Amino acid sequence: MSAKSLDPNRAGVNWASDEIVEEWSRNQARRDKVIGPATEMMLDLADLRTGYRVLDVAAGTGGQTLLAALRVGPTGYVLATDSSSRMLQVAADTAQKSGLTNVEIRVMDAEKLELDPDSFDAVICRTALMLFSNPPKALRGMRRAMKPGAKVSALVFSTVEKNPYQGIPLAIVRRLGGTVSPQFSLSEPGVLEEAFRGGGFLEITIHAVSFRRHFSSVAEAIQSLRDAIFIRDAKANLGDAERKLPWAEIERELTTLHAGRLRVARRDAHRSRDQVK
Ligand SMILES: C[S@@+](CC[C@H](N)C(=O)[O-])C[C@H]1O[C@@H](n2cnc3c(N)ncnc32)[C@H](O)[C@@H]1O
Repeated sequence: MSAKSLDPNRAGVNWASDEIVEEWSRNQARRDKVIGPATEMMLDLADLRTGYRVLDVAAGTGGQTLLAALRVGPTGYVLATDSSSRMLQVAADTAQKSGLTNVEIRVMDAEKLELDPDSFDAVICRTALMLFSNPPKALRGMRRAMKPGAKVSALVFSTVEKNPYQGIPLAIVRRLGGTVSPQFSLSEPGVLEEAFRGGGFLEITIHAVSFRRHFSSVAEAIQSLRDAIFIRDAKANLGDAERKLPWAEIERELTTLHAGRLRVARRDAHRSRDQVK
């Protein structure tokens, strides 16, 4: 493993910084729980089997790496790559603590994958493809490293409307002139498919998978947002953004959303009671 991390991605987030790595690791359990079902689906679609060699692109601290390593078993192998060596070191340490001996880490830019051709049975990429400056280029590299018939399975965020927790504050950051976050860069209809086509893939299927974030109050959601890396990234060029970001407005919009969801939940509860009668 090379000890040096590569450049920050196009969003300007320095994923190799101690601060970000510490935060990403701290929130790993919560994140893995929220996107757990979507992650399992990503792994199912990659068709992982015992003994498979899996390439994990932009693996971060390795939440999905470990799950893949468990699926392929001791006769299999997972290569976790990322531009940040610090992120990968957390993944390696966790793999070691979990007794997994089939995980290797390697610092590598997703857009310049230096791997033997036809050497992997499957490729996975969780919540990272949209961060690359040239997703088709990254996908072409993945395709080159895949054995014939292998699959690449990637998890990306859907549209802002379907993801209001991120979408509401990001719309406000954008209105204030902040950096346009790449968080939703592959979300509009056809864009993800186009990226895969540009990567040379012919058989492409896109599945929608929903997930819920649970907060005990709007205040807790706001606190989580204040700490979120994507917010820090998006508001990077707002100057003294913490003062400028209108948290009261974000709170109001989240409260309205929460009230609307509660109404829907109560209506559904009434409906199912009526059906039981
Ligand atoms: C949102 S995190 C996702 C990490 C992990 N896949 C997960 O789901 O927990 C994005 C990751 O992409 C990595 N990354 C961003 N741009 C990259 C690039 N061009 N090449 C390799 N890794 C990159 C970052 O270092 C970071 O670990």
